[in-house]
Amino acid sequence: MSATSAGRTDRTAVLCGLGGWLPRRRVGNDELAARLDTDDVWIRTRTGIRSRHLAAPHEATSDLAVAAGRRALANSGTPEADAVVVATTTPDRSCPATAPLVAARLGLSGAAAFDIGAVCTGFVYALTAGAGLVTSGVADRVLVIGADVYSRIVDPDDRQNAVVFGDGAGAVVLRAGHADEAGALGSFDLGSDGDQEDMITVAAGGSRLPADPALTSHAERHFAMRGKKVFRHALSRMTESARTVLDRAGLTVDDVDRFVPHQANLRILRTVAAGLGLPADRCATHVETAGNTGAASIPLALAHDHANRALRPGGRVLLTAFGGGLTWGSCLLTWPDLPPAAEPAHQEEESAP
Ligand code: COA
Repeated sequence: MSATSAGRTDRTAVLCGLGGWLPRRRVGNDELAARLDTDDVWIRTRTGIRSRHLAAPHEATSDLAVAAGRRALANSGTPEADAVVVATTTPDRSCPATAPLVAARLGLSGAAAFDIGAVCTGFVYALTAGAGLVTSGVADRVLVIGADVYSRIVDPDDRQNAVVFGDGAGAVVLRAGHADEAGALGSFDLGSDGDQEDMITVAAGGSRLPADPALTSHAERHFAMRGKKVFRHALSRMTESARTVLDRAGLTVDDVDRFVPHQANLRILRTVAAGLGLPADRCATHVETAGNTGAASIPLALAHDHANRALRPGGRVLLTAFGGGLTWGSCLLTWPDLPPAAEPAHQEEESAP
């Protein structure tokens, strides 16, 4: 491990920039209810979601990632990074990765750039990888982005999933610093259970089953989720992972100022927070107006909390995620004193009735 300044060997990744981006088009529950066999009350009661943002046909994951990344770099005070990590389940193409393109469009050509695929846990995996790049001395500044355009893989006629998912991107900048600084990332926990791979899946489109319309069904070419079972796994895995990371840090839930879980479903967030013994008002919720935005959901929830002054500089923040794979993970950090976002996360545009 290399030192960042003479005499110190506790080189640590420190969060120093934050940005989010939601596509302009907002789709309320009533718009979905007008064409699907569902209604606003069912969606709000079962998921907590009132609206979500969907990308325009010309917008790809890299477009959202660049918008969020640009905001995070601006918020960090300098447009530089020597590594870019993009967590996504919906890359622009299956080859090459999306991160090099994002880096180039942000003026970061030459930076190390790679994607991470851990579905809705992607941001926590990417954050852990980014922190590792910093602590190992491979990079001094890392841009970590979570970006997903689920509307490209969810069947718009699938009422279970079309109501749950939204599109978006969120990003943070990590720099080299020390463990006692506000913004320092602390303990991590990551895990997976590949025996449950069919719990959340897009069956066709990979090397196992190419997405040839002659050989695959419509359902196989779209996102599928065994909702009820996923719900149960999410509750237990998120709770266990949050406890593990607190144990590793020698902390308890009483030390947590803000719990920022993956925004899967309001009922999941509330149940996990209650199971951990955290009051509901310490749990970040952004799912109501963004839906489940996959790898983007935690940085978007952070950006939403930051805009609403819900994150106290120096306060301890617990991030916990769960997703397809199955995968799960948690990370602890202290919150830095960031400037307010110069630009809003999106310019909202009402959907047509
Ligand atoms: N509108 C109305 N009814 C719907 C519906 C919709 N959009 N979607 C499903 N239903 C129906 C089902 O068909 C079922 O009908 P039936 O009882 O006649 O068979 C009924 O509602 C209950 O379905 P169920 O799947 O049991 O609902 P649920 O309460 O589990 O809610 C999810 C469904 C998807 C919202 C919920 O399971 C969930 O949030 N799962 C976890 C999702 C998640 O965390 N994903 C992210 C992992 S990264």
